Amino acid sequence: MDRIAVLTSGGDAPGMNAATRAVTRTAISQGCEVLGVQRGFRGLVDDDFVSLGVRDVGGIIQHGGTVLGTSRCPEFTTQPGRERALANLGGRRIQGLVVIGGNGSQCGSHALSEMGFPVVGVASTIDNDLAGTEITIGVDTALNVALEAIDRLKVTASSHRRAFLVEVMGRKHGYLALMAGIAGGAEAIVLPETEIEPEDLARRIRGAYERGKPHALVVVAEGATWTATALSSHFEEHQRELGFELRMTILGHVQRGASPTAADRLLASRLGTTAVDTLLRGEYGVLAGWRRGEAVLTPFREVVTSTKSLDPALLRLAGLLAT
Ligand code: F6P
Repeated sequence: MDRIAVLTSGGDAPGMNAATRAVTRTAISQGCEVLGVQRGFRGLVDDDFVSLGVRDVGGIIQHGGTVLGTSRCPEFTTQPGRERALANLGGRRIQGLVVIGGNGSQCGSHALSEMGFPVVGVASTIDNDLAGTEITIGVDTALNVALEAIDRLKVTASSHRRAFLVEVMGRKHGYLALMAGIAGGAEAIVLPETEIEPEDLARRIRGAYERGKPHALVVVAEGATWTATALSSHFEEHQRELGFELRMTILGHVQRGASPTAADRLLASRLGTTAVDTLLRGEYGVLAGWRRGEAVLTPFREVVTSTKSLDPALLRLAGLLAT
């Protein structure tokens, strides 16, 4: 294999640039040419490639986002779209592809693999909802952004004796919310995996005040049935019975834009290099992820058919410490 391509796909995650850099430099060091695909699978379908040299990926390791650009590409979910992508890869004599992205992106990787093209994935999404890896690129940074916001909100909440709902991203998965809740010392955490009714939540908040706390902070996962918006309007309707003031902050995309932490840069560098080493030794159809302190490979088939669940020990921790 002497010519490969790399793309970043789906929601951008801090560390994607570090992974692109690692892929490019590792491949070039082994005599392999590298092309970058612009805007994820959209660029594969539209034949939008750039040549990447070692200097082209200089000065990007510290930047969030992705210099290659990304997109959500519905056309790539269709057979004609995928065939166009394959034809474009063939037309440029590309023999292997590294896909840096999350769940939806690795479904795309799996589809291309099934069509016979050599693909290796790199686990990257702030949601940490990808099977085959304990942690994904971008989670640590997103978590730190959420924590900074939570710490600040606690300061103003305490001054006013208010309660706050803070909604964090995560799609249908509660990992970010759970970790932000534990690390931020939240009084309650609302997750898609362990739903809670507003009345129970109100009891938890009231309990916090009764135990002498000057504030109550609730972390809500965006994928929960009771989102922060729904809870907020419910509590507004019942404000008199509740007996406390409640404010809401939705962090949204702010969680995605930060400069990657050291942990994310290192993880991205290691997984990017692993992906290229794997491709170049002729192994593909797998996701490069991280488990028990080392890079591991998991077949796409297993990745796309498994669901990642939350660690019960972390759920217990959250309950125990929110007193
Ligand atoms: O998958 C990453 C993520 O940030 C999710 O947490 C969120 O639900 C989604 O992407 C938002 O997608 P978009 O950037 O397309 O609005």
